[in-house]
Amino acid sequence: MSEPLGTLEELPQEYRDALSEAGVAPLWPMMRNVLPHDAPNPVTRPGHWSYGAVRPLLMQAGDLTPVEKAERRVLVLSDPGRGTGAMQATSSIYLGLQLLLPGESAPAHKHTPSAARIIVEGTGGYTVVDGEKLPMEEGDLVLTPGGDWHDHGHDGSEPVVWLDALDLPLFVYLEGSYAIEGPLQAQRNRPDASDVEYRAAGLAPTRRLGSETRRYPMMRYPWSRTEEALRQMAAYGDEAVAELDYVNPETGQDVLPTMGFTAMMLSAGQSDAPPLRSSSAAFHVIRGSGTTTIDGETVRWGPKDNFTAPVFAEITHQAEEESFLIRVHDRPLQEKLGYYEERAR
Ligand SMILES: [Fe+2]
Repeated sequence: MSEPLGTLEELPQEYRDALSEAGVAPLWPMMRNVLPHDAPNPVTRPGHWSYGAVRPLLMQAGDLTPVEKAERRVLVLSDPGRGTGAMQATSSIYLGLQLLLPGESAPAHKHTPSAARIIVEGTGGYTVVDGEKLPMEEGDLVLTPGGDWHDHGHDGSEPVVWLDALDLPLFVYLEGSYAIEGPLQAQRNRPDASDVEYRAAGLAPTRRLGSETRRYPMMRYPWSRTEEALRQMAAYGDEAVAELDYVNPETGQDVLPTMGFTAMMLSAGQSDAPPLRSSSAAFHVIRGSGTTTIDGETVRWGPKDNFTAPVFAEITHQAEEESFLIRVHDRPLQEKLGYYEERAR
């Protein structure tokens, strides 16, 4: 099984030329690349984007490029393993920091990939999804699932920045990525579902015979409630580290088909060494500071920073002060494909 496989160079040139001419290639010299033993061999490298470094560049984009010329004024966080310009932060997760200035709006559209935003700074921004106006406040998680109409607007007076997380790389790989544009949506004159039908955990609207539940019943997860819940988990929960998964309040399943979101609280001085997971991850720091070692590389993070870890990474967090992070990951996709795994370290 561990016998070294034959290489291309061992084959006579004449034979190799004939293979090329016929449009075929031998598998054995390439097989270990696509089927390595025991664990995958990720292209993704750990990445770190300090908000202090990226924010001025994003604001400059606001001066240099009117939103009409950009449509989406975004700086893409490229995986260091693939190089700047790569439209992905990990194998399956795209990340971008988006700037919306007061009075600006983004046209209504829908697309095949699913997206979620984590609001980084500013007030007055909102997203409309299927007619529901979702206010965007710092730390909120706002969903725009694939196939749902959405547009963005800004009623406030300061720049609004949010982090976009999409499963775009999958759709590009599948040659299934496209968008459709449409007129701005009429907005329903009421608070969003997180403030009506799903105001409290454990309560859902009465199921009436024959009535159907929306596939994505709740599109906005207000940070204030997440933080409150994390604090209670930290104080009274059974686990050493307070962690909460964002779930669909009707099904209890992950909020989007391929991407999962997990909020985490670390107390000052607390460390966390999770098992090795087959999922890749992107961490967004809501608040706090500390260090994280990922496969031997140490990232020193502060508020609003983003950093990433490849599949099966050995990750150790160490918080310097009370810290809140959201981990974006692809566990839901891997579970659907039947191979999600955790390994003890
Ligand atoms: Fe979009």
